[in-house]
Amino acid sequence: PTAQIGVTGLATMGRNLARNIARHGYVTAVHNRTESKTKALVGEFGHEGTFVPAATAEEFVASLTVPRTIIIMVKAGAPTDAVIDELAPLLEEGDILVDGGNAHFADTRRREVALRERGIHFAGVGISGGEEGALLGPSIMPGGSEHAYAKLGPILADIAVDVDGTPCSTHVGPDGAGHFVKMVHNGIEYADMQLIAEAYDLLRHGLGWTPERLAEVFESWNSGDLESFLIEITARVLRAGDPSQPERPLVDVIVDEAEQKGTGRWTVQTALDLGTPVSGIAEAVFARALSGSAAQRRAAQGVLPGPAEVPAVGEPGGEEGAGGFVDAADAESFVEDVRAALYASKVVAYAQGFDMIRAGSVEYGWGIDPGAMATIWRGGCIIRARFLDRIREAYEKQPDLPSLLVDPYFAGAVAAGQEAWRRVVVQSVQSGIPAPGFSSALAYYDGLRRERSSAALVQGLRDLFGAHTYRRVDRPGSFHIDWSGDLSESQFS
Ligand code: 6PG
Repeated sequence: PTAQIGVTGLATMGRNLARNIARHGYVTAVHNRTESKTKALVGEFGHEGTFVPAATAEEFVASLTVPRTIIIMVKAGAPTDAVIDELAPLLEEGDILVDGGNAHFADTRRREVALRERGIHFAGVGISGGEEGALLGPSIMPGGSEHAYAKLGPILADIAVDVDGTPCSTHVGPDGAGHFVKMVHNGIEYADMQLIAEAYDLLRHGLGWTPERLAEVFESWNSGDLESFLIEITARVLRAGDPSQPERPLVDVIVDEAEQKGTGRWTVQTALDLGTPVSGIAEAVFARALSGSAAQRRAAQGVLPGPAEVPAVGEPGGEEGAGGFVDAADAESFVEDVRAALYASKVVAYAQGFDMIRAGSVEYGWGIDPGAMATIWRGGCIIRARFLDRIREAYEKQPDLPSLLVDPYFAGAVAAGQEAWRRVVVQSVQSGIPAPGFSSALAYYDGLRRERSSAALVQGLRDLFGAHTYRRVDRPGSFHIDWSGDLSESQFS
């Protein structure tokens, strides 16, 4: 056996990851269920490093030095279980099996226990950055035992992207911790994209500007606080023309129904169990679902009226021939308001995501360092952004920060934009352009900052109809009113 590490599953991500590993000087065994993909990889990219192609799982396992390190890069769910079931009987105690797919963390926990019983170290590793990241340097979120990480960590640090000399890979925690953090990363990715889409929608209809002109707006935003991969690619998508009719914007010919593979949904499902309000991610998942409810949307068109009068002022005969609901003279300040609303809403979405990471870490005893997650998300991954450096600093200053929103930097940034944020939400409501991300983020912000919440009434109602009791602001214990009698109060505990 000669190979130092093996990759099985050579679809786009697996193939690029294998090439990345081989390019870093590791002798890399490669295997795929259908052998043609293995041959194609070695035929096309064999010169990039030393590959050891294997036709069968047996050959693949036999080609690896012991203890073996194998990375599985197949679809989450049943295909991953099938590969594990095929490989496990061929492995020996001490071997390390890595799942580099987008697995559900609960599956990773289950698999880790089952394989541990056989003496095999199972590491669930989140990998972000798409095809290009896998090849040129992804952000990596490795979970699993310290033992597995001792061997795996240096390889992952080698193939991950570097930011300021720090690799975007660090040990997240045991068993499912890596896949949990990757799941939340994807949830934040959903929220971030939803907010960007709302900003685009409001700008387009508010100003009546063409996607091409809006591309310039996003480009300019990308040199400020919002600088990020997602803002950068927003400009690229908006600038693109329809290849079959280049003067028509591409964004106008793409069917407006968002699809999903499901990691955002998992984030929200898990957040419900943990009791963590990730409203930004939930709005994003539901907005995708609404966009995909084609039959209902068709039925509602022309039946459900919008606001009676949406003043169409905008630029007289603006670039699209139609004005928007914003007066042309106010265009610049509207753009700035939307930018501020996007930034503030984004801070809320990330604050909620980081709260969820902390809640998951407590629930499962993972000991995750949130600042370290911000550090490894600075490069390589889909949500990479300048902003993450600020998050890293916030947790560095105060590791037990109760919410990102109260960190002095973020509190100040959101305070500076909150009037603009409110104006944008009002404008979205008045013009009938839905902005669920912006408005629910603002509702969360207001819910967080208010001294007294309306939940006191909810508690009163619960006590009336179900004797569920309430706590008092002025003394300890739980209390109940004799609602059907003399309204006297009794105390329990
Ligand atoms: C990444 C991406 C990646 C994938 C998403 C797409 O981090 O590289 O998040 O994992 O592109 O899962 O998700 P949806 O298909 O659910 O939008």
